[in-house]
Amino acid sequence: MSRILVTTEIPAPGMDILRAAGDVDLGAVDHEQLVAACSSGEYSVVVSQLRDRFDAELLQTASIVGISNYAVGFDNIDIAAATQRGITVANTPGVLTNSTADIAMLLILSTARRAVEADSFVRSGSFTGWEPELLLGSDVSDRILGLAGFGRIARATARRALGFGMTVKFCPRPPGDREVSDDELGEFAGRVEHASWDEIVTTSDFLSLHVPLSDSTHHLVDAAVLGAMKPSAIVINTARGPVIDEAALVTALSEGTVAAAGLDVYEREPALEPGLADLPNTVLLPHVGSATVSVRSEMARLCATNAAAMVGGSMPAHPVNPDAWSHAG
Ligand code: DGY
Repeated sequence: MSRILVTTEIPAPGMDILRAAGDVDLGAVDHEQLVAACSSGEYSVVVSQLRDRFDAELLQTASIVGISNYAVGFDNIDIAAATQRGITVANTPGVLTNSTADIAMLLILSTARRAVEADSFVRSGSFTGWEPELLLGSDVSDRILGLAGFGRIARATARRALGFGMTVKFCPRPPGDREVSDDELGEFAGRVEHASWDEIVTTSDFLSLHVPLSDSTHHLVDAAVLGAMKPSAIVINTARGPVIDEAALVTALSEGTVAAAGLDVYEREPALEPGLADLPNTVLLPHVGSATVSVRSEMARLCATNAAAMVGGSMPAHPVNPDAWSHAG
């Protein structure tokens, strides 16, 4: 059985790689259809998107060998349940690091310098000439960037921020902590400061989130954290929406508890918390961290190659739960 279910067509060269590996069907647009397709016995591998939810219930009846997720994140998949069922999950790490860090930096700059407000101001015909106090924003250089997490994307963001003359602090595993050796810091040794979550929250001018979504990071930024931040602070999220309590963020932004927010991801994506879109002190992007032509194409190549390997009976190059492959074998 070498049939592959692709829930949403992926960019070139993905579909060609998949078609060379097996028979490809496009479909399963809703959850019920996905459950039915996964349990039908017709497919060995599913090529999925972040919006496809593989919960324990679906995985319990699934008779597939693998899931190749078109993303580096995999919080749409219950990994423990997949591993238990011997279903290998693969992802697309590495290739979207720089593009996502670019978006974090873009959100830092555009919230600080009020780029969206300024753009609307010009387009609406309100710009009548240079004014000493027109659309004043906040500085980026010499300000403190606090990073929640210190993985690939956080590091790429740190590299950019250091180039802008920012002071960079990081907490590797908020809300807790862990040791980080100079060896692990590599190029950042002596250039960034390891800090507790509490210090990051209370001292950052910009707080940028770079943690995976898990039980310990769900609502990492809640009303208490927002209340402990500087009133001038700006919150940046390119990670996962539920890391922020979005209702608490809307209240904090409305009441001036924090100054602004730049978001690429949302708690109930694609829905927005009521009131969020009405706030002028937000920059809101539609989850475009990896959205460049070359990155999406490279993600497609990795994703399709992972799927093709599993269809052909080999461990994929980027397994999230390699144990599942040995269990299945
Ligand atoms: C990912 O890959 O996890 C991003 O959120 C989307 O590209």
